[in-house]
Amino acid sequence: MVGESTVQKGLQDVVALESRITFIDGKQGRLIYRGYDIRDLAAQSTFEEVAYLLWYGRLPTAAQLTELRTTLGGLRTLPPEAAAIVDRMPKNANPMDVLRTAVSALAMFEPGETKTGPSSIGGAQRLTAALPTILGQFHRRRAGLPKLRARPELSHAAYLLYALLDTEPSPLDVNAIDVALILHADHELNASTFAARVTASTLSDLYSAVTSAIGTLKGPLHGGANERVMELLDEIKTPDRAESVVHARLAKHERIMGFGHRVYRVEDPRATILREWSRKIGEERKDIHYYDLLRAVELVVMKEKGLYPNVDLYSGSIYTLLGVPHDLFTPIFAASRVSGWTAHVLEEYDDLRLIRPTSAYVGPTDQRYVPIDERS
Ligand code: ACO
Repeated sequence: MVGESTVQKGLQDVVALESRITFIDGKQGRLIYRGYDIRDLAAQSTFEEVAYLLWYGRLPTAAQLTELRTTLGGLRTLPPEAAAIVDRMPKNANPMDVLRTAVSALAMFEPGETKTGPSSIGGAQRLTAALPTILGQFHRRRAGLPKLRARPELSHAAYLLYALLDTEPSPLDVNAIDVALILHADHELNASTFAARVTASTLSDLYSAVTSAIGTLKGPLHGGANERVMELLDEIKTPDRAESVVHARLAKHERIMGFGHRVYRVEDPRATILREWSRKIGEERKDIHYYDLLRAVELVVMKEKGLYPNVDLYSGSIYTLLGVPHDLFTPIFAASRVSGWTAHVLEEYDDLRLIRPTSAYVGPTDQRYVPIDERS
């Protein structure tokens, strides 16, 4: 190695910046948005309230909440040029690719003042409102469902379900999705938020930052894990097979998706809440087999690896029971996390310093340049 640097692989435990948005207490298993415990927010607030809290740093009054709901409802329609681009995506495209490309395209049809600097809160609201529309428009076309309408009277959670399923969701289903959206809204300096902040730290625009974040969330070690959890359950089929299937995967040095976390050393508080919702929705549907399978997997993984579940373990079972196709799970995550990404980008613009770490160079330094016709 050239120089004296110490490498923190994966930037583990590196404190890269100060933030006032989210605090994770990995030892106590607590998650705090702007000072408020996620358990209180999940039990008592709505996604719109949480988005307001993340963006403005305080809970809204009733009037401010109504105004935000009206604003989001009014921003759901895509410009025709962007809608046409979504309609040209191949039906077999990965919905995360659709989202990434559509957000990137949307930037070209939006007013400049919503894009960079503190005033880009307008862009934050526009993107938050637009993501369910992009997903709904794409999914409805590939599934042969009727064309999407903006439905400004619906809450963000209800609109997301309506956009994806073309149903009038029950209050319980809306509550389940709302809680999932609240729990996924922010999570400190996770990989996708870091990607968004790195992009913003170059003074690039909000849409570019969110495009970076969507590409980062797509990976199975981050947002893509809940889809893989359902593949595991499909293989296990009955709780008595959990042990043998998990053992076989561990023997091949495979990771069990939905377990482990970089920050939590105890159970992820989001998993605790989603486990309850998985049971609740299962009981309401008279189908708790996913819940039973997941409990069985939890026992084996704890016994074999001492690993706790993370947010991705139970979310997929809830979405599946609601009728959401597996490849839309990570996009639902994005439809929530966009509120956190944009809050972080706004914070970055407010206290800007180019994020540019260094690497420890471990390659050669004294190579002699060989002209091309002398190389073998
Ligand atoms: N299954 C099996 N082994 C695991 C798992 C797992 N889910 N998670 C960690 N380990 C093991 C690793 O193999 C490693 O063992 P080793 O030291 O013998 O090689 C050890 O635990 C430490 O793992 P790291 O990857 O160094 O821990 P890190 O903090 O980097 O990983 C991560 C965190 C990526 C989330 C990891 O736990 C994982 O891959 N989990 C599965 C994917 C997943 O559920 N991702 C969603 C995370 S939450 C979110 O992003 C929304």
